[in-house]
Amino acid sequence: MRLIVLSLIILFNSLIQVSEAQLKVGFYSQLCPNAESVVADVVRDATKSNPQFPAILLRLHFHDCFVEGCDGSILIDNGSTSERGAFGHQGVNGYDVIENAKANLERLCPGVVSCADIVAMAARDAVALSHGPFYQVETGRKDGMVSDINLADRMPDVKDSIHLLKQKFIEKGLNDKDLVILSAAHTIGTTACFFMEDRLYNFDQRGSSDPSINPRFLPELSSSCPKNGDINARLPMDHGSGDKFDIQILQNIRTGFAVLQSDAQLMNDPTTRGIVDSYFGVLAPLTRPFEADFVTSMVKMGRIGVRTGSNGTIRRVCKSFN
Ligand code: HEM
Ligand SMILES: *[C@@H]1O[C@H](CO)[C@@H](O)[C@H](O)[C@H]1NC(C)=O
Ligand SMILES: *[C@@H]1O[C@H](CO)[C@@H](O)[C@H](O)[C@H]1NC(C)=O
Repeated sequence: MRLIVLSLIILFNSLIQVSEAQLKVGFYSQLCPNAESVVADVVRDATKSNPQFPAILLRLHFHDCFVEGCDGSILIDNGSTSERGAFGHQGVNGYDVIENAKANLERLCPGVVSCADIVAMAARDAVALSHGPFYQVETGRKDGMVSDINLADRMPDVKDSIHLLKQKFIEKGLNDKDLVILSAAHTIGTTACFFMEDRLYNFDQRGSSDPSINPRFLPELSSSCPKNGDINARLPMDHGSGDKFDIQILQNIRTGFAVLQSDAQLMNDPTTRGIVDSYFGVLAPLTRPFEADFVTSMVKMGRIGVRTGSNGTIRRVCKSFN
């Protein structure tokens, strides 16, 4: 009898631990009821001073999740060996916005809200501020305790083949549809000409441009990023609609108006091309809207390799280990 009671207690305890150790919508609703609105306010204020912040913050979440899971590892600033300095994270930013939100939250509810969750919440707010879909964001992530520059060497790269892009997403539990849908995050934001050089002037090391660029678009791209010009000059990634979160990016990709080479690659594979095409054409009105699919894939990305429960910490400052 005592044995049965004991095993029931153990079973019960482990059930509680399992349920605690999962992401859920509204994880902070009791622990820090204003957590989500504090983050939303900081993101909105930052965007008033710099309209690029939504794009910057959306990208930050992707780069956080793809290395060591969505654990805030990219935020750590621990000298030259930090993950943040990796080549694959070039141009990633938004750290100060996250740190601001963290400082406000530490005043309100010290030691409660993880930096990894702040990044996920900020990305959600970024999409909404860009007139994209508003969605319920899962929270309950803990912060990681590792930051190593060498761990970022499997970041998807703008010059990766479609085969390699698919492979790198599969390694993170994301399928071809997620690859297409999440690449469409390039519906907002800009790229530096740095990432365009080879596509425009040395595609496949052949000294010419990527033949998949629509000839009507090539002159415009080349004049935005002239040969041997300023590699830090920036151009919108969604031609004609760079400020607004919408499906135009997928239409651009289909018609040779993709700016990034990796986006153009989506048309180079029958599966990913079919997914892009599925949002257009006669059957499109019957398929699930792009916005709904985007939310599904974002929530999925936000689950990559997360630490929950006692597996991880809550940092006091996002850029340093406690
Ligand atoms: C499929 C693999 C991907 C590749 C190769 C890629 C590559 C890039 C590159 C080269 C830039 C320009 C960076 C700069 O010049 O600052 C960029 C920007 C951006 N990426 Fe991606 N990306 C990928 C997937 C994603 C995903 C999954 C998301 C989010 C869900 C995302 C969101 C963004 C955003 C919002 C920007 C604009 C940043 C800004 O305006 O500062 N990307 N990406
Ligand atoms: C911080 O960096 C130093 C040297 O660059 C390294 O020895 C140390 O392990 C790093 N700390 C963590 C927690 O990664
Ligand atoms: C902690 O989380 C990481 C990432 O999900 C996982 O790989 C690891 O096995 C977890 N550790 C424990 C003790 O549960």
